[in-house]
Amino acid sequence: MLGHADRLAHAGLVPVVTGIATRRLGSWLDPDGIDLAAALEATGRGTWLVDASGSRSGTSEDFIDLVSADVLVETTILDRVAGEPATTHVRRALQRGMDVVTTNKGPIACHGQALRALARERGRELRFESTVMDGCPVFSLVERTMPAVRIEGIRGILNSTSNYVTSRMRSGDSLAAALDDARRIGVAEADASNDLDGWDATMKLCCLANVLMEADLAPEAVSREDWREAPPGADGAWRQVALAERHADGTLDASVRWRPLRGDDVLAPFDGLSTAVSLRTDLLGEVTIGIRDPGTDQTAYGIVGDLVAVAQARITRARLREET
Ligand SMILES: NC(=O)c1ccc[n+]([C@@H]2O[C@H](COP(=O)([O-])OP(=O)(O)OC[C@H]3O[C@@H](n4cnc5c(N)ncnc54)[C@H](OP(=O)(O)O)[C@@H]3O)[C@@H](O)[C@H]2O)c1
Repeated sequence: MLGHADRLAHAGLVPVVTGIATRRLGSWLDPDGIDLAAALEATGRGTWLVDASGSRSGTSEDFIDLVSADVLVETTILDRVAGEPATTHVRRALQRGMDVVTTNKGPIACHGQALRALARERGRELRFESTVMDGCPVFSLVERTMPAVRIEGIRGILNSTSNYVTSRMRSGDSLAAALDDARRIGVAEADASNDLDGWDATMKLCCLANVLMEADLAPEAVSREDWREAPPGADGAWRQVALAERHADGTLDASVRWRPLRGDDVLAPFDGLSTAVSLRTDLLGEVTIGIRDPGTDQTAYGIVGDLVAVAQARITRARLREET
């Protein structure tokens, strides 16, 4: 995204990075702005980041307390049980009066309602577009263009690795060969169970349901089928489908299961690494949004889009303060 700074400035965003914290390589604090090329070079070499005062700082929580910043961008690794340490990072930053952007599904899936309430109470932004579908703007779509619409159901293909594997199996490849290739192109971990066992899709479904349907859906409440439960000899028409449905009595059913998709299903063309979600609404019927073969550039764009929204919200807040 560094190469597109002019476009970001045009969109109202001139970011200055005043701190970077890692788990293994320490952190770097500089209120005047960090030289990002130098930071990338240092982390690329695996050398410690040393802050402007020449010291190696402490925990990531100390970092959040110390950093001089308007926004925290939280991109630590997923913990699907408690959403930690990301949830602590998000909460601490909001309590310090910072806006927060996160790519981490854990805080939104496990504590979405509480964290969004905290952000509202503090008058701060909490944005998380890259948690689902690598930055494809599903949350922004609903927030900005569907204000009076009630979402009654969500159906999606949310996990790229599973979708890639079943697409390859449709072409006659084995699960093992497809998985090897998914690892080679960098979408699957050595242990792909998070993807094939439905955990990744489960966390994403919780993020979507908790935000778009105002649900309080916990990952363990999602009924989940792992790949061993896919029908034997599945010919590839079977896809990992995430579903959340609100019933007339207000209860919510949520599942991640292997399901056949008919050729004319609106989700069917999203094969390979692609992901898509279809929203069943009361006033707009079925609205579908998807992204073709997303990668890390699209995840990074999701962060940028969220930062632009934060910058715009800060401008609005400043205007309101001036008016009162
Ligand atoms: N990659 C994608 O395409 C993608 C797409 C959508 C969402 N996401 C989500 O985005 C997040 C980051 O993904 P990634 O692929 O960038 O992972 P990654 O390459 O493993 O990077 C995670 C980073 O978090 C740091 N970290 C971990 N625990 C920390 C702690 N306690 N305090 C401070 N820093 C800590 C790590 O530091 P060290 O390097 O020192 O360990 C590392 O720099 C994950 O939650 C992932 O699910 C990723």
